[in-house]
Amino acid sequence: MDELTGKIVAVTGAGAGMGRATAQLFCSRGATVIAADISGAQNELSKEFGASVLPIDCDVRDEAQVEALIATAVSRFGRLDAMLNVAGFGVPAMLADADMAEYERMLDVDLRGVIHGTKHAIRAMIPNGGGVILNWASVAAFGATRNWGLYSAGKAGVVAITKTAAIEYASVGIRANVIAPGTIVTQAFAQIPRDLETQLMASIPMGRFGRTQEVAELAAFLVSDRATFLSGAVIPIDGAQTAQLA
Ligand SMILES: NC(=O)c1ccc[n+]([C@@H]2O[C@H](COP(=O)([O-])OP(=O)(O)OC[C@H]3O[C@@H](n4cnc5c(N)ncnc54)[C@H](O)[C@@H]3O)[C@@H](O)[C@H]2O)c1
Repeated sequence: MDELTGKIVAVTGAGAGMGRATAQLFCSRGATVIAADISGAQNELSKEFGASVLPIDCDVRDEAQVEALIATAVSRFGRLDAMLNVAGFGVPAMLADADMAEYERMLDVDLRGVIHGTKHAIRAMIPNGGGVILNWASVAAFGATRNWGLYSAGKAGVVAITKTAAIEYASVGIRANVIAPGTIVTQAFAQIPRDLETQLMASIPMGRFGRTQEVAELAAFLVSDRATFLSGAVIPIDGAQTAQLA
C-alpha cells in the first residue's frame, strides 16, 4: 500500500506548476485528487489519471466557489483528508510604485484564497475527526527582496493563518503546515529577467533552482501518516538559500 492510498485530497492551482506536479504525484501514489484551477488546464489531468482525479473550475478569490469545491469532495468521496492551497502568484513593484489594484488582485489569491481554503477545509474536517492543511507560502515570507514587498506581506500572512489553524484545531485532529519554496522552475519563473536569474542562482548554495516534483515529494510526506506529529511548521525547500547569512 502506498502512503497516500485512499486519501481524498483537494489541490488548488492544480493546472500548472507545483499544484499540477503535486496532483500528479498524489494520483500516482493512490490518492483521489480534486484538482481545482481557474485556467481549465486541470482538465488535462483526467487523460492521465482517469477516475483518480476530479477536475473542478474554481476561482479561489470567491469564497462560495471554494466552499462548493470542498462540499463536492465531501459529497462525492465522503470526506476531505487534505486541503492543499497552492494557487498564487507574484507581481513585482517597489513600494513607492505599488499599484493598489494589483495588490488586491494578488493578495485576493495569495492570502484571501488561502484563508477561504483553510476555513472551509477545517469545517469539513472537524466532523471527520481531522485532516491535513498545507499552504504554499514562499521564502519571501522570511525576509525582504527588492520589488517583492507586497508579495512577501501576503506570504507572511499565509504563515500566520496556517500557524493559527495548527493551534486552534490541533485538538480535533487537524495538522496545518506551510511549504515555503525558494525558486522553483515553473511558468511563473519563466518571466524572471535573465540578469535576475543569474543573481538568484548565485544566492542558492546548491547552485540550481528547484523542480516541481521535489516540492510535491515534500507535500506527499507532510500529508502522509509518517508526519503525524508535524504541525504548525514552516518548511523551506530552497537548496539552502535561506540558511545562509552571506
Ligand atoms: N515558482 C516559484 O519559484 C515559487 C516560489 C515561491 C513560492 N511560490 C508559490 O507557490 C505557489 C505555486 O507557484 P507555481 O510557480 O507553481 O505557480 P504557477 O504559476 O505555475 O501555477 C499557478 C496556478 O494557479 C492558478 N491560479 C491562479 N489564480 C487562481 C485563482 N484565482 N483560482 C484558482 N487558481 C488560480 C493558475 O491558473 C495556475 O494554474 C504559488 O502560491 C506561488 O506564489 C512559487
